[in-house]
Amino acid sequence: MPHATAFARNQWYVAAYSQEVGRELLGRTILGEPLVLYRAEEDGAPVALHDRCVHRRYPLSESGLDGDRIVCGYHGFTYDRSGTCVYVPGQKRVPRTARVASYPVLEQDSLVWVWIGDAALADPGTVPRARHLDSPGWVTVRGMEPIDADYGLLVDNLLDLSHETYLHGGYIGTPEVAETPITTEVDEGAGIVRVSRRMEDAECPPFYARSTGITGRITRRQDIEYHAPCLYLLHSRIAPTGVAPAPDGSDPHGFRTEITYAITPASDGRVYDFWAVSRDWATDDAEVTEFLRANNHTVVMQDVDALRLLQRTLDTERTGYQELSINIDTGGLAARRILTRLAEEGDKPQERVR
Ligand code: FES
Ligand SMILES: [Fe+2]
Repeated sequence: MPHATAFARNQWYVAAYSQEVGRELLGRTILGEPLVLYRAEEDGAPVALHDRCVHRRYPLSESGLDGDRIVCGYHGFTYDRSGTCVYVPGQKRVPRTARVASYPVLEQDSLVWVWIGDAALADPGTVPRARHLDSPGWVTVRGMEPIDADYGLLVDNLLDLSHETYLHGGYIGTPEVAETPITTEVDEGAGIVRVSRRMEDAECPPFYARSTGITGRITRRQDIEYHAPCLYLLHSRIAPTGVAPAPDGSDPHGFRTEITYAITPASDGRVYDFWAVSRDWATDDAEVTEFLRANNHTVVMQDVDALRLLQRTLDTERTGYQELSINIDTGGLAARRILTRLAEEGDKPQERVR
């Protein structure tokens, strides 16, 4: 496929929300690897195994659980939570090679992370945090949309929010977003890109006006923190104009909203777009919760439609076309550089990369 962003192996990826992993088998594909996920009865921990039976490759996610064992839905090969086959039909001896790969899993901040690559290199300490997703005093709405597009297009989309003005006008976009220059900071070593935009006197978009009750103009800050390859945090701060929010968001007149995305490449030309909006204000107001959920879902679908269209367009281009980048693209270009490096490092076996 043309224009495909290389996959970075030897990295942690969000496979699912905690709430999605239970006693029903869940199939997800990450970096082209089919996985089956479930939650063990024994200790409540999530389990991730390769989703293909070693016998005839029947998807285990279409099979059933017997306690913490998966019984293949085709001929009954039975796997324990380590992926070892413990039963085959019609004979006593289980072939020694009968096992499916098991993946390192970490559950943190209501996210189920899976390590794709050499399991010996998996270091749980490197998984970036998103504490607001699972902290007292915070309320989160969330969802996930698979998009038929190269995951690099989603990274590009999220790192340049000037598109809010045009694609999300009437929701989260106002003229000031596109008009206001950004500052970009790149920590190449840590694989983190930060993009910030400060709007001193801006229109309050309906997304915030209707949820906070602010009627006038606002100061608005957008601070992006992208932890390549998977986790994207947008620290959003708004306050009525003239009341500047403190750096920690503690200003009583200010509203802090944390917007989280996990960008998980599923396969070539397909990406899982996990999205969440968390707030620590009006937390008891169910109407605000529902408004933010529905509104953000609409915004996400605007991106989904745009990226599908863009992918279809790129697929019909002849190779060798020239992109034209400007200041707003600084963060996105830095992210691409980091992803390229991570992909190269991930392809070298037996090396600790981060
Ligand atoms: S394919 Fe799974 S038991 Fe035959
Ligand atoms: Fe968008």
